[in-house]
Amino acid sequence: MPTADGRRDGADGPRPVNGRHSALTLTVNGTPHALTLDHRTTVLDLLREHLGLTGTKKGCDHGQCGACTVLVDGRRANSCLLLAVAHDGRRITTVEGLAHADRLHPLQEAFLERDALQCGYCTPGQICSAVGVLAEAADGFPSHVTPDTAPSGAPVALTADEIRERMSGNLCRCGAYPRIVEAVADAAAAGAGVGGR
Ligand code: FES
Ligand code: FES
Repeated sequence: MPTADGRRDGADGPRPVNGRHSALTLTVNGTPHALTLDHRTTVLDLLREHLGLTGTKKGCDHGQCGACTVLVDGRRANSCLLLAVAHDGRRITTVEGLAHADRLHPLQEAFLERDALQCGYCTPGQICSAVGVLAEAADGFPSHVTPDTAPSGAPVALTADEIRERMSGNLCRCGAYPRIVEAVADAAAAGAGVGGR
């Protein structure tokens, strides 16, 4: 479990190596990595340039497109906005970590079934974001379009409006939005969980 300041239990925080680098440990898709990183390294660059996990895409590098979405301790985040040294002891899941052995995550299956992509560049971020959406709705997090009359803390039904609102931070330049909404709705209706490692 994360501690109050967000670190995992037992993690002491990054250890300074020199004025520019610190040592830390991150668990990515279930594998712990002991790393020494420049303090300016983002989680996105760590994943792509240091760990070779290129499924997570760099679109804007400014927190505006959602292409870099990953899960940090199960909650979605734009990895281009996260400094790796601030995440010592955290558990990160990328699109590469969603499948179990040769079985795709239900959201990956739903995107394929609905043909919810064209060029595919935004798709890893869309799928990671959708995994986060399912968890947030199940945990009762309201969105801007959740009715005021909805019972506080109760799971939120993922209507098309809810999906559109909750996925609005993930841009698709190919305009695959209608199929993306259908895919997320299919996965929600099938009771897909968070999954991943
Ligand atoms: S690359 Fe991170 S939000 Fe666009
Ligand atoms: S499928 Fe091309 S950007 Fe979304």
